[in-house]
Amino acid sequence: MRYHLAPLYCRPWTLNGISPRLIESHYENNYGAALNRLNTVSEEIEQLDLGKTADQTLARLNRDEIAALNSTLLHELYFASLGGDGRVVPDAMASAIAKDFGSVDRWRQEFVSIANSLAGGSGWVLLTYVPRDGRLINQIASEHDQSVAGGVPILALDMYEHAYHLEFGANASAYVAAFMRNIDWSAVTLRYEDAIKVAPPRLLEQKQFADVPSISAEEVREMLKSGTPVQIIDTRPKHYTTKAQDIMEGAVWRDRERLNDWIDTLSKTEPVVTFCVYGFHIGCETAATLRKAGFDARYMAGGHSAWKAIKGPVRLFE
Ligand SMILES: [Fe+2]
Repeated sequence: MRYHLAPLYCRPWTLNGISPRLIESHYENNYGAALNRLNTVSEEIEQLDLGKTADQTLARLNRDEIAALNSTLLHELYFASLGGDGRVVPDAMASAIAKDFGSVDRWRQEFVSIANSLAGGSGWVLLTYVPRDGRLINQIASEHDQSVAGGVPILALDMYEHAYHLEFGANASAYVAAFMRNIDWSAVTLRYEDAIKVAPPRLLEQKQFADVPSISAEEVREMLKSGTPVQIIDTRPKHYTTKAQDIMEGAVWRDRERLNDWIDTLSKTEPVVTFCVYGFHIGCETAATLRKAGFDARYMAGGHSAWKAIKGPVRLFE
């Protein structure tokens, strides 16, 4: 596949303290080189006779391709990050930043400090939107192929020496300050608005238990910590529990197949939490049955494994 050049997004003559000469050299030589490398490598991969190509050769080319692709994309984002006055942060963007960093000033300090740490080294400093958590995060990407999985960078600062040495020499912090003076916040805001339309990763869907309420392992931990009365029933299958070495602290094990034998020992005035191994089936079914019988029952999402994953306390299961 042929990758096409993106025209220079910012207007170099409008920048404050970053000269057209520097931007031109960066765009033509470094961005151009990344794009050309990308096309060369991807063409090379297309022409491979895979039957006769060593796995390692393909892997090396693939790594080269990804590095060139990311360098191309991040350079395009870098040039598109410049062209504003760096100061006026639109309200939508300012409140998004304040939500995740405390304030715009605090974000700026963090971003600049990370950038200055790269003086004399190389890498990218990115402001990235992470759809999973619906939040923004600053990130150093030391290589072109290092970025937050699934994250959407919306602002890029190039800290490779080629981005500033021509004009700033070793004075990287002056370059960082100049970059900050030229951020095009309205363009960043538009990219942010696009980024937040990216759906977070899909959550586990259990259609057959859609009517049964669940509770997270973290919430159960909070209930136990705060002393909220709760009846926790471990309903892991017998064949599984005979192998299990531990049981959640505060839980009692009950045989799901003999529910009628123990249901009357439960109180209807205190909530009930049931769980099984991973939270797919038996814990949910038990909660559903208990609810039908008039108990305030929920199943713990993720089951025993979720409890272990959050390092919830366990005791020896005898
Ligand atoms: Fe660059």
